[in-house]
Amino acid sequence: MKINKLLLSSLCIALPMLSVSTNALAQKVTLKLAHNLDQTHVVHQALAKMAKEVQEKSNGELKIRIYPSGQMGGPRETIELIQNDALDMTKASASEMESFVKEFSIFSSPYLFDNEEHFKKVLFGEVGKEITDKTQASGFNVLASYVAGTRSFYAKKPIHSPADMKGLKIRVVSTPTTNKLIELLGGSPAPIPFGEVYTALQQGVIDGAENNIPSYNQTRHVEVAKYYIEDQHTSVPDYLIISSKTWAKLDDNQRKILTEAAKNSEIIQQQLWDDEVKKSRAEAEKVGATFISVNKEPFRNALKPLYDDFAKDPDLATLIEKIKATANESIIEHPFK
Ligand code: GCU
Repeated sequence: MKINKLLLSSLCIALPMLSVSTNALAQKVTLKLAHNLDQTHVVHQALAKMAKEVQEKSNGELKIRIYPSGQMGGPRETIELIQNDALDMTKASASEMESFVKEFSIFSSPYLFDNEEHFKKVLFGEVGKEITDKTQASGFNVLASYVAGTRSFYAKKPIHSPADMKGLKIRVVSTPTTNKLIELLGGSPAPIPFGEVYTALQQGVIDGAENNIPSYNQTRHVEVAKYYIEDQHTSVPDYLIISSKTWAKLDDNQRKILTEAAKNSEIIQQQLWDDEVKKSRAEAEKVGATFISVNKEPFRNALKPLYDDFAKDPDLATLIEKIKATANESIIEHPFK
């Protein structure tokens, strides 16, 4: 509990410093938030609750209008819109943040976390804050972090070991780390936007992809790739980000309301996530998905060279050591719980 309370108070002190001019009189502001997830996704539900909370607590002075389902494009496009002052907020996964801040790449390290608890300690603790604090130089701040379970492969044919992946074209959120991950398993990576994966699978342009179970189900990829291989190679979180310029335009009260509502959205999203995984799994099975449990050891072994790459970069090597050490820390409680 102590850790996060400290983090929160330092966040509240540090963020107002971004403001060059704070308006004495509150102005009515509507912020635009675009993301690429379906409206049934728990991240969307948490964001919708956040928008409601913000509107209520600010007596309608601060509103958030959400554009879901990739209406403004995928994360690459929406981050670009933010950088060009055409959008206020978006959601992006750690992989999508990697090209701005290299430290996000550690979430693509296979089998980095002992379990979900270890992952949460990192995401919501000091290491998580150390990483998210670095985005300011890219023109945006992180307001919230969301769990996204584990990512596993799914394909048109069954996969039981890395040997079965030889020659397969697998869609990834393309980064140097994810591309290498597929290559080490004998496949070839395909950098296809999230919204185009269904058609690519259907038309046989790719043989498979990788994602968590809710996304596998909600995108209906399950209809065209029946085998979900539970190798659970990575845990890649999602983030809610806001343009630094937008942030600077908000007054202190608006920032406080938004910061609290964003932190509350983290709790709501976590509460909804586990049930969503169970529900999505059942729904996927209903439409014919086969879940294959595999021995993770051959995957872990094949992917070890990725750690050699991380070891070559002193910043990333230090970060990985810190993450490993976090496993032994006591559980931290969310500051708003
Ligand atoms: C997950 C994740 C998204 C990401 C998507 C993808 O669904 O929550 O943020 O965009 O995977 O694979 O592109």
